[in-house]
Amino acid sequence: MDNRPIGVFDSGIGGLTVAKELMRQMPREDIIYFGDTARVPYGNRSKETIIRYAQEIIQFLLQHDVKMIIAACNTASATLPESYTKELPVPYTGVVIHGAQAACALSTSGRIGVIGTAATVRSATYGRVIRSIRSDAQVFGKACPLFVPLAENGLFQPDNAIAKLTAEMYLEPLTHENIDTLILGCTHFPLFYDIINACFDYQVTLIDSGQETARFCNRFLAQNHLLKESEDPPVHQFYVTDDPEGFCSNAAMFLGRRIDGNVEQVSVESL
Ligand code: DGL
Repeated sequence: MDNRPIGVFDSGIGGLTVAKELMRQMPREDIIYFGDTARVPYGNRSKETIIRYAQEIIQFLLQHDVKMIIAACNTASATLPESYTKELPVPYTGVVIHGAQAACALSTSGRIGVIGTAATVRSATYGRVIRSIRSDAQVFGKACPLFVPLAENGLFQPDNAIAKLTAEMYLEPLTHENIDTLILGCTHFPLFYDIINACFDYQVTLIDSGQETARFCNRFLAQNHLLKESEDPPVHQFYVTDDPEGFCSNAAMFLGRRIDGNVEQVSVESL
């Protein structure tokens, strides 16, 4: 058993969709969530910048004695080199591998779509990982960056005209590719689940990478005897690099409820 917290990080608030799943599937675990709200979005930044930011946050989490690190941010997960993550002193996982594995398992035709930020799609990491699992797969990527500000401004309800138009504009090319599975390769995209589903006439299997990652972590910690065993109620600690108030007021949209933990601001310069 290991009573230390799980470290989760994201470019900002979107990673709370992954934290929500972790909290649901492992309700006793302590979690430290780091949201780089002062530097979000990562999705249109260069590879070098994304790697530097992610490494700074990982060092912060290590200093806070976490037992495992999860890159909830698809952009960071797709960009961080394995040569770095495999040398970390605690187990590390990103969301990409788990979304890719689920897609490979569930796709019948092997024609798999991936939507994400510009940096995630540009990295082609999902495609590489998918083909390493399933060599017959064909992967079709599409960057959908506008979903990020739409979600953060609360414009994601199934009847929202702007969200629907945006989804139709982005996804129309993918509807001609005959995909049977689509990976929601961005923290914000599960909020558009119904809208995206409708764009494919409910005929395509949608994969939530965050949900798959939480499932993996639960299994991994159990198999390695690393689950928390203390009976104490779970402690959820949040660190953000910008105003905690803004983070708290938007958190419920991503977390499904109000933040019940402590939210502290960390200056980017101190990282
Ligand atoms: N968290 C990012 C991701 O999952 C989306 C927001 C951003 O661009 O930083 O890719």
